[in-house]
Amino acid sequence: MKVLLAATVASLAFAAAASAQTVGFSQIGSESGWRAAETTLTKQQAEERGIDLKFSDAQQKQENQIAAIRAFVAQGVDAILLAPVVATGWDSALEEAKESDIPVILLDRQIDASDNLYMTAVGADSVHEGEVAGGWLVDTVDGKDCNVVELQGTTGSSVAIERKEGFEKAIADHPNVKIIRSQTGDFTRSGGKEVMESFIQAENGGENICALFAHNDDMAVGAIQAIKEAGLQPGKDILTVSIDGVPDYFKAMANGEANATVELTPNMAGPAFDALEAYWADGTMPQKFIQTDSKIYTQADDPEGEYERRKGLGY
Ligand code: AHR
Repeated sequence: MKVLLAATVASLAFAAAASAQTVGFSQIGSESGWRAAETTLTKQQAEERGIDLKFSDAQQKQENQIAAIRAFVAQGVDAILLAPVVATGWDSALEEAKESDIPVILLDRQIDASDNLYMTAVGADSVHEGEVAGGWLVDTVDGKDCNVVELQGTTGSSVAIERKEGFEKAIADHPNVKIIRSQTGDFTRSGGKEVMESFIQAENGGENICALFAHNDDMAVGAIQAIKEAGLQPGKDILTVSIDGVPDYFKAMANGEANATVELTPNMAGPAFDALEAYWADGTMPQKFIQTDSKIYTQADDPEGEYERRKGLGY
């Protein structure tokens, strides 16, 4: 029976491989430079591999993503890539994909659902990202008191929940480092700027703030603008640490206006398409989580060079 099932899976996979494969991609939107780069790279990767990519921009709304998944299922695509805006509420749509034998791969964020509903997830360990950011700050302040303001990502997204958890874990045994304010900036530059302005106003014109932890670089770039407009020096009066590694943040580091970022590769599609191609070739199933690296960059890591290397990559 098992042999028969394996043979059927392999022949179905081979049938998909024989013609050009169609993959639906439900993207969150374009809230950040990082996401724009992920979209660009996914389209490039699909083209290079001869995959017909059906792209759907959800404009930050889960209901649009669910409608896109259902449309992809109705079209009979060979696979679906999903970057889930929030962690919950995916079961019914993903069950429909499963019933139609359409493999789903999660990109860059996780969901709260059974892992039977997707083939694999490609992304960073977001708790670890937060820990790396927090660890950098703990080491940098070296025992001095440091009041931190936190700009959270989109409420309910796995990455916002986990980056916060990781950062809190890193500072837990260091009572000198305290989060004094924390609010969402929705992963956008404008959100980061607006919320940072309110933090500065509430904290004695920013005098009480020692450091900013932003869940992504775009919010940090917005916050850096707010710090400058308040007459303070970002990178000196207020230290900054965030996540992504976008060119504008490297530029800010090169100018001494930002301190550290934990890189998240925007190339989630490469490993996802590799997994699909192996599956289509002979039914090989990937592991459930394909983890990308989380390297920290500081002002000592040639930020000008990093800016130059990244600026044409679609950020
Ligand atoms: O899910 C990844 C996060 O989403 C990136 O850090 C952020 O920039 C994006 O919008």
